[in-house]
Amino acid sequence: MKAVLLTGHGGPEMLRYGDAPDPIAGPGEVVVDIHAASVNAADYKVRLGKGRYSDVRFPHILGRDFSGVVSALGAGVADLAIGDAVFGVTEQGQEGAYAEKIAIKAAIVARKPTRLGHVEAAAMALTSLTALWALEDTARLRAGETILIQGGAGGVAGFAIQLAKYLGASVITTASAHNHDYVRGLGADRVIDYHAEDFATAVHDCDVVFDTVGGDVQIRSYAVLKPGGRLVWIAPAPEGFKPSRKDVETLRPAVARDRAHLERMLALLERGAVWPPAITPFKLADAAEAHRISEGRHLQGKLVFEVR
Ligand SMILES: NC(=O)c1ccc[n+]([C@@H]2O[C@H](COP(=O)([O-])OP(=O)(O)OC[C@H]3O[C@@H](n4cnc5c(N)ncnc54)[C@H](OP(=O)(O)O)[C@@H]3O)[C@@H](O)[C@H]2O)c1
Repeated sequence: MKAVLLTGHGGPEMLRYGDAPDPIAGPGEVVVDIHAASVNAADYKVRLGKGRYSDVRFPHILGRDFSGVVSALGAGVADLAIGDAVFGVTEQGQEGAYAEKIAIKAAIVARKPTRLGHVEAAAMALTSLTALWALEDTARLRAGETILIQGGAGGVAGFAIQLAKYLGASVITTASAHNHDYVRGLGADRVIDYHAEDFATAVHDCDVVFDTVGGDVQIRSYAVLKPGGRLVWIAPAPEGFKPSRKDVETLRPAVARDRAHLERMLALLERGAVWPPAITPFKLADAAEAHRISEGRHLQGKLVFEVR
């Protein structure tokens, strides 16, 4: 099969489009012929090889979410059949979606409805899983609460805006000016241009902050929380940072992979509560270009590979 092979740590030039062995379905697994795979911010971090991503054996195939068609069944798989359209997210610590085929545990993929294309399903897999774990399971966001979502135009944050709005929260988000119409269209009630205005003084009394940006943004986010508020993060604060406020909670979602959360996303889609993000398509052979954009940190919505 064709795949994008990461040949070493470094810049996007470390990605080579070439041949890799076909995967085999082990017990409880299916092989999926991938039609679309998405680019996540974690992918360029793995490529750069910093911190917890330093331990990679090359060549390595990146990619955490995909949509495609089941082409082989491992022993014991009874609830999926060859020809089923499915989408999913790889297990934590495993990757391999920048490829024409992937072997994955059947229990963590979900059937893709025909109303959702493969490109859209790939775009919504890890983003929805992460946002659902963060806002529903971890923050336990409730109707009438106010949430500040940092980085609203990004993949996870974009889904989080839709979800928070559906849950009945008042949604504030940060974005560059060229993304304001986009995040308003997703449901944001108030948008802060973080280049022109300091969110830490413009916003106060939030029940929840969802931080998808990290670094200094996370440090300054504590100022906007009311006593008893919750800060949920998926992008880290600077190493060694300890929050000074003792009257708020700091939470990190587990983001376990399972079929139930993907099906929860599909139920929300069916209700019209969420819909696919803005998508920029790429060919697998153009992975280096997609990575330059992802690493630039100012994309809108999702970058998705059309694999076949
Ligand atoms: N399981 C997990 O824990 C998990 C899962 C998924 C992602 N993540 C992490 O979560 C983070 C977000 O991932 P993603 O894939 O959703 O990111 P992404 O789509 O690549 O996010 C890019 C967005 O960040 C915005 N941005 C950059 N700097 C900003 C700032 N200072 N303030 C506000 N917005 C800013 C940009 O918006 P503008 O152009 O408008 O500036 C851009 O739209 C990454 O660090 C990723 O590794 C963790």
